[in-house]
Amino acid sequence: MRAATPQSVVLLGATGTAGRAAAIALKEAGHTVLAYGRRDPGIGGVAFHSGEIADPAPLTQAMRDHRATAVVSCLASRTGVPSDAWAIDHRANSAVLAAAQATGARQMVLLSAICVQKPRLAFQHAKRAFEEELMTSGLTYSIVRPTAFFKSLAGQVKRVQLGKPYLLFGDGRLTACKPISDRDLGRYISNCLDDPALHNRTLPIGGPGPALSPRDMGDYLFEATGKPPKFRHVPLGLVSGIGGVLSGLGRISPKLATKAELARIGQYYASESMLLWDEARQCYDADATPEFGEDRLFDYYDALISGRAVLERGDHAVF
Ligand SMILES: NC(=O)c1ccc[n+]([C@@H]2O[C@H](COP(=O)([O-])OP(=O)(O)OC[C@H]3O[C@@H](n4cnc5c(N)ncnc54)[C@H](OP(=O)(O)O)[C@@H]3O)[C@@H](O)[C@H]2O)c1
Repeated sequence: MRAATPQSVVLLGATGTAGRAAAIALKEAGHTVLAYGRRDPGIGGVAFHSGEIADPAPLTQAMRDHRATAVVSCLASRTGVPSDAWAIDHRANSAVLAAAQATGARQMVLLSAICVQKPRLAFQHAKRAFEEELMTSGLTYSIVRPTAFFKSLAGQVKRVQLGKPYLLFGDGRLTACKPISDRDLGRYISNCLDDPALHNRTLPIGGPGPALSPRDMGDYLFEATGKPPKFRHVPLGLVSGIGGVLSGLGRISPKLATKAELARIGQYYASESMLLWDEARQCYDADATPEFGEDRLFDYYDALISGRAVLERGDHAVF
């Protein structure tokens, strides 16, 4: 969507999956984009300023020089371990907000995650803490809480192509999500700047439905590759058991405490859906989960299988 009012935008996290897509969408919408971070995203038409996000002075200066009217943060801890989550998802975003306020930027779009609606993990608490700060900051805000990204649901394509079994927790129907592509998410983030209906709101958002379970994804992969269907069922209790043991040992070893948090992250995604949580009914509601965009996960699977797309999973991969 071409922006009615082009803005001068400072973008954080432009080297990440969602951030890169947001940079492209913002540029295509006609905004002037400055990516700020420790690495150049190398996107044509997007300027880059190198700097540490932990250091507020150069960030503030960059926003001033760019005459930023809006800030978009797609920053995210690359590991999800507690110390990094609080440093990036909370403190770095707070520093960005302070710089925005100091330089007169009026608007901030924050990439969060749908799973923070039921926060149990350190990175979810860190994200929630910053969401609260942003909501009371006085800036016009949009808090984008997407469902699962394609990259996080594509880790088993190669396994199936190699004739290996598809791994499932339980019967593979414990959870579901409405996957959203990078491109659609980037466009949605960009729309947040211009569309008043997306202002001062927390926005859970999925891709086009229907909701898919891991079993649906496995079934499709066997059909698309022509391999004979083989599933290996991993009991959910096994993951929680490992997490429990590591938690106990984590009290005496920081290294094991980190592993315990990673096990808890695995357990969370194995047992919780990436759909809107209905607090009153105490269940996930696929129909009520908002949808946006056109790209479908199974088309992406086809592209991976045929070699037209390459999976860049990063560190947030579920498997
Ligand atoms: N994966 C999913 O299915 C999913 C679903 C819903 C929501 N989300 C949420 O979406 C968000 C973004 O995910 P993503 O996959 O796009 O993340 P990502 O690819 O890991 O990108 C993270 C970005 O943050 C930057 N960053 C991290 N630590 C930094 C540091 N110390 N200093 C400077 N920059 C730093 C990275 O820069 P560098 O390149 O310099 O490291 C990168 O640009 C996360 O909050 C995640 O929880 C993910």
